[in-house]
Amino acid sequence: MRTEANDMTSQTPRTPQEYEVLSGGGAENAELARRGISRRQVLRRGVGITLGIGGLESVVGMHSMLYPNLAGQFGSVIPLKAKTAYPAAEQKAFAIDQVGIFYESAAKSYIMHLKPGPETSLLMSGSHLDDALSAENWVVDSDGTYWLALYQVCVHLGCKVPFRNDCNSFKCPCHGSHYNVDGEYLDGPAPRSLDRFAMSFDKSGNVQVDTGVLNQRVERPDVGTRILQVPGVQCSAQ
Ligand code: FES
Repeated sequence: MRTEANDMTSQTPRTPQEYEVLSGGGAENAELARRGISRRQVLRRGVGITLGIGGLESVVGMHSMLYPNLAGQFGSVIPLKAKTAYPAAEQKAFAIDQVGIFYESAAKSYIMHLKPGPETSLLMSGSHLDDALSAENWVVDSDGTYWLALYQVCVHLGCKVPFRNDCNSFKCPCHGSHYNVDGEYLDGPAPRSLDRFAMSFDKSGNVQVDTGVLNQRVERPDVGTRILQVPGVQCSAQ
């Protein structure tokens, strides 16, 4: 470790007078003279160092703006709960935060966990279904259930869309856009289906949502592209 005592032994020995000057008025001049450096040179070096540090800070600041550290925050991969915290349900049995559909505020998302069965009507099959599921960010689990992470924002004008147990679907309170349990457009002014995030499971089997990857390309479905049957219930405005 470098200490003043080391300095004293490793450099040219200083006289007591030099120490006196260096620790009081004229200290700088005495030291500079000893090293053979002019005050102008020191000022130039100081300005250079200051500019260098300022430039470095600017680069770091710019990098932070362009590549903010979002670890664990919205815009990055959000770790959620174990799969078991999201029990699957058939389409007609969904109940918010109980079975089938769950709200996760940290990910600003609804987690759908759909179970096949007589109360779940998939309108496609085979490779046609596989392609549609892939294009719409569905995840097929090893037990045959389906997962999806839907962004909470209505694609009409941005209101938060609640899931309505009484409608077995999402219904926007602002202008009435209506979406199926998988976010597929049903009716209203929305130009497309709900947007969705990429989701996956970590090594421990916990659900995680990549809120940095948003799929905004799911169009209004037609009879040939709709994945799930429309809910057969009336949905009032509120
Ligand atoms: S913002 Fe949802 S329908 Fe207008």
